[in-house]
Amino acid sequence: MVRSALGHVPRTSGSSANPVDAHQIFSLVREELQQVEKEFARQSTSSVQTISDIGKYLQEGGGKRIRPCLLLLCAKMCGEVDEAAIRLAAVVEFIHTATLVHDDIIDGADTRRGRSSVNHKWGNQITVLVGDWLYMQSFFVALRQRNFHVLDILIDLTQRMVEGELIQLTFNGNHRITEEDLLDIAKRKTAYLFSGCARIGGTLGKVSPAQEEALARYGLNVGLAFQLVDDILDFSSSTQVLGKPVLSDLKEGKITLPLIYAMDLCSPEETKKIKTVLSEKEFKSVSREEILFIIEKYETLKKARSRATRFARDAEEALGVFSPSAFRAALHSIPQFILDRDR
Ligand code: IPE
Ligand code: IPE
Ligand code: MG
Ligand code: MG
Repeated sequence: MVRSALGHVPRTSGSSANPVDAHQIFSLVREELQQVEKEFARQSTSSVQTISDIGKYLQEGGGKRIRPCLLLLCAKMCGEVDEAAIRLAAVVEFIHTATLVHDDIIDGADTRRGRSSVNHKWGNQITVLVGDWLYMQSFFVALRQRNFHVLDILIDLTQRMVEGELIQLTFNGNHRITEEDLLDIAKRKTAYLFSGCARIGGTLGKVSPAQEEALARYGLNVGLAFQLVDDILDFSSSTQVLGKPVLSDLKEGKITLPLIYAMDLCSPEETKKIKTVLSEKEFKSVSREEILFIIEKYETLKKARSRATRFARDAEEALGVFSPSAFRAALHSIPQFILDRDR
């Protein structure tokens, strides 16, 4: 089941003069997203049954499909959606899927999209190989377009995603991570893919170098806002709504922005509690409630949200170089939906 590209969000977005509701955004690319699903299904089969089984399992798990949605809206804003756009929209979702599959092994996560993660169901060994296969399949499909500019973008962003995960690992368990380090990781592991989606969509149509740069900037800022909101939801949402365990970043050894801000303000005893969970990698000597209490006391979710809001506003501003259209309005509304999303 594919959840709507934008999830459960308020029907109107807060920042735009002419807000577009989530239903309208989705309906602008609904048919194309259905074709992307078919392409995804076609491309995730192999003569090796285990790969096809896992490919089907991953597709059926759904997901918000926000990356293909962005690519298609940008393609429509700058030209027409043809077979290449559908294929490349499937490719970016494939790359995203491969990253999630590997990420869940790295993070030891047993739940994704409201059900067993692939590693939990099939084990780490099979899952590593399926992730590799998905990456290769992404590039095999992309290569068919013989579009070297697109390949350049895809290879660059995939390497950056891996770098982001790797840098994050080098900080694992380290409470001295700074806001700058954290944003660098978020940029690499999440935002470059969003940026690539917007750029690729645009370059399939007609864009000037300045417009392509604006799309790259738009996507990058949308992606940064998206990752910061993901980190906030880890504290504020529920497992049921999110489809993945909450309060898990700290247990996984990751300090995120709400905790970086909290550690700037809190007492040595409170810092010690955060460090204890970070090193024990479970809520044992320190409870979940104690950590949530610190976050609430210093109101750092609000602070992290205003950082995300600044990225969202920068994203909206980047669209100024395009002529007004229904597609530009939809793209303009997306950053606010990301700020308001609950999963
Ligand atoms: C999860 O991405 C990984 C992050 C970048 C935080 P999504 O929240 O887009 O995951 P799905 O595809 O909807 O499951
Ligand atoms: C997701 O990162 C993977 C990438 C963005 C590369 P996280 O570990 O922060 O995201 P979730 O919480 O597992 O979805
Ligand atoms: Mg993870
Ligand atoms: Mg996360």
